[in-house]
Amino acid sequence: MIKLDVNGKVHELDVSPDTPLLWVIRDHLKLMGTKYGCGIAACGACTVHLDGQPVRSCQTPVSSAAGSKVTTIEGVQGPEAKAVQEAWIAAEVPQCGYCQSGQIMAATVLLRQTPKPTDAQITDFMNGNICRCGTYQRIRAAIHQAAAALHKG
Ligand code: FES
Ligand code: FES
Repeated sequence: MIKLDVNGKVHELDVSPDTPLLWVIRDHLKLMGTKYGCGIAACGACTVHLDGQPVRSCQTPVSSAAGSKVTTIEGVQGPEAKAVQEAWIAAEVPQCGYCQSGQIMAATVLLRQTPKPTDAQITDFMNGNICRCGTYQRIRAAIHQAAAALHKG
């Protein structure tokens, strides 16, 4: 059995240790906001937080997440997450939406680490999160908007 803390709730799971965290999240815990895109850590659709750091859950064995705090799009909280989600809505960022939970999970960590990122810092940090609809301009605008909302005054 593997014990896994996801969004503050501890689950005991009868899964093979090398099962990708993504499939535990989706198939066992039925949290469907985290998406499968490429399966090879190349697109970012499956991004979750492991102790506050963004990881590709498609390439993270569940055993390596045991003992850490896993956060998915369903459970992400805090001022940065709230500001990002509000900016995403205001800027109407999503098109098909498939990549967006991964984008939001990445952007939240970016703003925790870099409160007022430049365009270059946004591009650098968000580089591994692919959007097939090409919403990159709106993502960048929304990140600036979220940063401004967090640090106004
Ligand atoms: S599905 Fe994990 S990076 Fe693409
Ligand atoms: S909004 Fe469609 S892939 Fe990003």
